[in-house]
Amino acid sequence: MKKCLSLFALLQLISTWSLAQSSVQQLLTENRVNPIGLDVTIPRLSWQLIATKQNVRQTAYEVRVNTDAASIAKGAVWQSGRVASDQSVHVLYAGTALKPGQRYFWQVRIWDNTATKPSAWSPVAYWQTGLLTAGNWKAKWIEPGYVEDTVNRPSPLMRKVFATPKKVRSATLSITAHGLYEAQINGKRVGDAYLTPGWTSYNNHLQYQTYDVTNLINQGQNAIGVSLASGWYRGRLVWENQRNMYGKNLALVGQLAITYTDGSSETVITDESWKSSTGPVRFAEIYDGEIYDSRLEKAGWTTAGYADSDWSGVMTKPFGYTNLVANYNELVGQHETRKPVKVITTPKGETVLDFGQNLVGWVKFKVTGKAGDKIVLSHVEMLDKFGNPYFENLRTAKALATYLLKGGTETLEPHFTFFGFRYVQINGLTGPINPADFTAITLYSDIPKTGEFTTSNALVNQLQSNIQWGQRGNFLDVPTDCPQRDERLGWTGDAEVFSRTAAFNFGVNNFFAKWLKDVTADQFSNGAVPFIIPDVLNKRPVKDEPAGAAGWSDASIIIPWNMYLAYGDRRIVEQQYATMKAYEGYMERVAKNDLWSEGFQFGDWLSYVTTEGSPAFEAKSAFTDNHLVAQCFYAYSTDLMRKAAMLLGKTEDVTHYAALLERIKKAFQNAYMTPSGRLISDTQTAYVLALQFDMIPENLRPQAVDRLVDNVKKYNNHLTTGFLGTPFLCHVLTRFGRTDVAYKLLLQETYPSWLYPVKMGATTIWERWDSMKPDSTFQSPSMTSFNHYAYGAVGDWMYRTITGIDTDETDPGYKHTIIKPQPGGGLTSASASLQTYYGTVRSSWKKEADKLSFTVEIPANTTATIYVPAKNAEAVLESGKSLSAAGLTAAGSGPGYVVLKIGSGVYNFTSSGL
Ligand code: BGC
Repeated sequence: MKKCLSLFALLQLISTWSLAQSSVQQLLTENRVNPIGLDVTIPRLSWQLIATKQNVRQTAYEVRVNTDAASIAKGAVWQSGRVASDQSVHVLYAGTALKPGQRYFWQVRIWDNTATKPSAWSPVAYWQTGLLTAGNWKAKWIEPGYVEDTVNRPSPLMRKVFATPKKVRSATLSITAHGLYEAQINGKRVGDAYLTPGWTSYNNHLQYQTYDVTNLINQGQNAIGVSLASGWYRGRLVWENQRNMYGKNLALVGQLAITYTDGSSETVITDESWKSSTGPVRFAEIYDGEIYDSRLEKAGWTTAGYADSDWSGVMTKPFGYTNLVANYNELVGQHETRKPVKVITTPKGETVLDFGQNLVGWVKFKVTGKAGDKIVLSHVEMLDKFGNPYFENLRTAKALATYLLKGGTETLEPHFTFFGFRYVQINGLTGPINPADFTAITLYSDIPKTGEFTTSNALVNQLQSNIQWGQRGNFLDVPTDCPQRDERLGWTGDAEVFSRTAAFNFGVNNFFAKWLKDVTADQFSNGAVPFIIPDVLNKRPVKDEPAGAAGWSDASIIIPWNMYLAYGDRRIVEQQYATMKAYEGYMERVAKNDLWSEGFQFGDWLSYVTTEGSPAFEAKSAFTDNHLVAQCFYAYSTDLMRKAAMLLGKTEDVTHYAALLERIKKAFQNAYMTPSGRLISDTQTAYVLALQFDMIPENLRPQAVDRLVDNVKKYNNHLTTGFLGTPFLCHVLTRFGRTDVAYKLLLQETYPSWLYPVKMGATTIWERWDSMKPDSTFQSPSMTSFNHYAYGAVGDWMYRTITGIDTDETDPGYKHTIIKPQPGGGLTSASASLQTYYGTVRSSWKKEADKLSFTVEIPANTTATIYVPAKNAEAVLESGKSLSAAGLTAAGSGPGYVVLKIGSGVYNFTSSGL
């Protein structure tokens, strides 16, 4: 008996031993979990290996796809078979051609280097195709059939009753609009997205959304109701009171594909049979807010029994479907909620709620009142030094939420606008305010949070929080410059400088992939890229001459490359290559003898300028020649074009751009540099950009670094850089061995610096270094936002240098990670983690006296090069063991580092004698 038992145990052991150690999870289709409505005909599949051991690598995978989850084992749509490969991200679907409106279920299993047998099959995931082509649209575009009040333009209500006589197996709604829409079926909200269909270059690229509404459909009578609003389509946009940028009338198109359990199907479409009217939303605009009259609510209008005999009909319109594409990025959703932290009575006797955080969204509140009572909520970011709300920086944006009560108790919130605010002034409420009745709700794209970063320095941690809140507030379907004033536009420069930081904090792969399609859609025929995307500046009567500007238009080249680095997303480079090349071509044409020295440039926007009351140190403003800046970005983009061409195997382009790059640098040196390496602009930005992009010959770089460091000293250890110099300032100091100076600048607490706003109570990133001046007065209201993420681009350096997490260009997307932490600045600890498509990358260190403990986590199926701060390999232990005992070999060492090449797993290093 005993012998049998031990034999059984041994067999057990062998069988488990031969099974793969890792399991498979986090299945993504086009970077999203179970997306519904994808028009991508060859979707990319990704998964993560979960392993308990170190050094786990996938050696092969097998994918199976079927339209029926229950019989997925058949893999009728695609059976990949065993594919010898370590690829687990962006594996191309290679099954039968996809059908429209079809849900595809898929599974994967892997083999790894720790066993002979495959892992268990993963949990089942799926994606559902959208309509795939314009030809699959059956619905008609419909517009309200009544005469519109063209002043306020109340929100139209559109409705239709339909019957479903049999048991429904599935129901999918595909819908979009000219304007914003919110849909309900049988009184229930469709989906949890807001401000749909979002903002794109509508006439070229209008996204439709797809919803699984099976659970909302009754057997029998049903009703669908959709309310519309002006939104970005025809609402006021840009600061010149311009409306109707994309069109004058709101319209709706939608089709509901219903499949019954008996296999039959039918489609309910928007057509002449719909009805239209107006309701409680009397006015709704992005900048100016919303007016909601509860007395005009039409209770039950989205249910079948509602009496709509007095409603108008609708008009069908031949707008076509060729510009319609399924939503690719994450939709805008509601996220954090906050209660007021304080109720303030202002010197002017107003009641103001302080939500303690500058955020973007709106306020939902409960109120009891009489019919006709008018409640107005005004939204501001700051109180002035007297304690009154500061409205001036909103410029012409009213940012008001106005409610006319129906009497009794009701809960109210807007629908078709958003506000950038920390404080809300309330007018019209009688009686004491109960802060518990008020909730601020944040609105931003459903981008997954991927990054955590913290240090032993509370101010730096607040800076990190401000960067993340700035991103939340300005990643609302489009990367906007600011969320509060009469702007809120997709400024390309801001998006470009912030894009790498953005990719640390949140998953922005699809967010930017969608936005870049609008870069392509709105690119000028001469290749120039508009300063704002979606481009509304050139929809105004006074068209700008199609021109590009350095640092702004380069977003068309820089962001695709940054997404490739951060996510290994080769397709975004393929998708954008023609647009990238066209912009590069534009620069080549406007440059004379490879020097881009003419035409409008933003330059180093908002760099340090002296104003009265400026700090006593160096009074000189830091203006950098705009064309010196332009030449540096010309080189930067040309180098990225060379790399992109290399990646895509475009050898001719590689040769062309490599040669062009050398010429651009030569032209720079001739035009802007003395033979000794001094630049015509003696500013931090000039030296930063010239060093960052290797514009200066190698032998002259050390003097340039010295000039940069001297300049910082001259300004009493303050930065003076603007939008374009700031993102690279610390990187250049680190690259050339002056991380000590970078830390000085990071930890500087007086203006201009990153921590000065933090010291002044900021909870987001400010547009200007001194949006609020040291005397608590404000910079000119003509342009002072308290929620502008551009200067938050330092976040990238914080992750990549303080904790040292970085991509490897030859193996991007963290397939191979480089971790080289550079402790300093008196920090005693720092920790960061990043959710990559492979899993969690983590780096955290703690310094005590001359000892450092340093932990890294590397996802399965990836590798890493680790720089352990140490004087030599002997001084390093891993989990208390010497490197050799831990099975690790130093791959090299540099000043103050021991370099290790490691596989996946968690490693706990300690090093002493630092
Ligand atoms: C915007 C900035 C933008 C700049 C370019 C400003 O109005 O707010 O974000 O980069 O214009 O000039």
